[in-house]
Amino acid sequence: MTKHIGILTSGGDSPGLNAAIRAVGKGAHKVFGTDIVGFYEGFRGLMSNRSIRLGMGQLSGILTRGGTILGTSRDKPHKMPVGGKLLDMTDSMVETYRKHQLDVLVCLGGGGTQKNAHLLAEKGLNIITLPKTIDNDVAGTDVTFGFDTALGIATEALDRLHSTAHSHHRIIVVEIMGHNTGWLALGAGLAGGADVILIPEIPYNVEKVAAAIRSRSRDGKRFSIVAVSEGAMPLDLAAKVQVLLEKKDQAKGKERRKIKNHLTELRSHRSEHTLRLTRRLERLTDLESRLTILGHLQRGGAPSAADRLLATRIGSACIDFIAEGRYGIMVGVQGQGTVAVPLEEIVGRRKTVPIDHPWIRSARQVGTAFGD
Ligand code: F6P
Repeated sequence: MTKHIGILTSGGDSPGLNAAIRAVGKGAHKVFGTDIVGFYEGFRGLMSNRSIRLGMGQLSGILTRGGTILGTSRDKPHKMPVGGKLLDMTDSMVETYRKHQLDVLVCLGGGGTQKNAHLLAEKGLNIITLPKTIDNDVAGTDVTFGFDTALGIATEALDRLHSTAHSHHRIIVVEIMGHNTGWLALGAGLAGGADVILIPEIPYNVEKVAAAIRSRSRDGKRFSIVAVSEGAMPLDLAAKVQVLLEKKDQAKGKERRKIKNHLTELRSHRSEHTLRLTRRLERLTDLESRLTILGHLQRGGAPSAADRLLATRIGSACIDFIAEGRYGIMVGVQGQGTVAVPLEEIVGRRKTVPIDHPWIRSARQVGTAFGD
């Protein structure tokens, strides 16, 4: 049985993408005896048919490499920037798929990619997605590849910041990625012993954060580390966002788009919020405060061993699903196994941190404050 497989990587890059491409490519060789076709820069390359045949030569030596050998973009099939306009280019993508006589297109990406891939599935293409993102916020899977590597990098940063914070009797605020969820800040904060962890799922009261830090000072602790998720919000901003989210659910068409833009605007000044928080903590505690934004460091470099294993496991499960002819699905992780999750079940859903999550309970038990 021969299968013609296309593959692309879309959205922000993530450690483990090359390991997953390798697993799909080598698996295709073993099971179907064919090379796979890679499309450059996500859906943009699919639109313009910029591709490369990924034979065994191209797949060798990439397991440990960070980034993606195919390049990536955040371009969407139905809103593709072309000649200064946003155009629906899905038909050109369908054409490329047909030109290559593909049996399936494998799309590696996060939440946005699931949505975009689903659009193509609705156009009649056979699609399988693999969940990657350092944010770990894709619904329908226990975990995404990239998360473990970023978690390790952010934890190491917190370890290193401890000694300098301690030496200067300072507050160090560390901004950690994660988009609108707190998995990365919570995990790294817990593993790196942060004194305060602020995540979007638990809106914070800055006075309470300051009180927790002052109480540490009274106990003779010379420093405090505050791990802040980039999407964390003070109570007043969180209340505004909540009202808009509810309005958005009721609204349609132009009004819905207006609310969405407003929400994006409110959420787009992430680092400004973190800087404002740092300054307010300095004023409220009389302790010198410094801000460290980890930024794209968290996505760079080689994938961890756990991410190599996960990406390889998901990639080879993808080949099994292709052999079974199961399409319109994401390869989700459930414990040690993998499951086929129908795309329509996950599109538009985000996996947030449940506020009774064991990591939150453990953090509270070891005295970590959440500013609530
Ligand atoms: O989704 C991954 C992520 O790294 C988020 O944590 C972050 O908010 C975003 O991408 C940054 O996007 P960009 O690389 O486009 O600046």
